[in-house]
Amino acid sequence: MATPRKQKKSPYTADRSTPGAFEGETVTRRGFMTTGALAVGGVASAAFGLPALGFALGPNFSRTEPHTYQDVGPIADFNPTTYTVKIIDLVANVADSGKTTVYVRKYDKAIDGDKNSDLPYVAISNRCMHLGCPVRYIQAAQRFICPCHGGVYGPLGEVTGGPPVRPLDRFYTKVENGRVLVGARFSLDSHFKRFPHPRDPSNHIDGLWQYLYPARPTT
Ligand code: FES
Repeated sequence: MATPRKQKKSPYTADRSTPGAFEGETVTRRGFMTTGALAVGGVASAAFGLPALGFALGPNFSRTEPHTYQDVGPIADFNPTTYTVKIIDLVANVADSGKTTVYVRKYDKAIDGDKNSDLPYVAISNRCMHLGCPVRYIQAAQRFICPCHGGVYGPLGEVTGGPPVRPLDRFYTKVENGRVLVGARFSLDSHFKRFPHPRDPSNHIDGLWQYLYPARPTT
């Protein structure tokens, strides 16, 4: 038995008995206005939403600190048990305001374990991870102390007291021709897992917190 041929649907709204149809229309005016309003709404939302999204996510794909290495002295200047204080440029060409203090010592497996063991020297930032005040290392106590709100860090820069939310940031290091070089800054979560982009003080970066505190252009 031959199957009945399916009847082709008319393109005209009047033929399809669409409510509000007019002779010769393929789209009702109501449908046209609804689609137009949705399109205009979409464009308006994109005009506001896309720049905001770009502002929030853009810094994840850019680096504001130069990825160059700076010479901080010969290897004889450093040992595994005490930190040597050095000054480096965090932001180039802005005079003293672009400089920062960095605490440098030789990596030692007995002290550091596997934490960032691929770097030959430990270079710790002096910026407190509460609100960014400069911390100071007290050798006798083997603690980094923040004068602002009582933040205290252990000898590896781990938080041992006060309001800081994560370990002190560090810098990449390498040795070339008997000289110690310090590179870009990076942040660490509480397990000393390295983040490629440095985060601001007060930003939690453990677990889901890292998504609630996206990176932004910062020094
Ligand atoms: S800025 Fe260091 S404890 Fe507040």
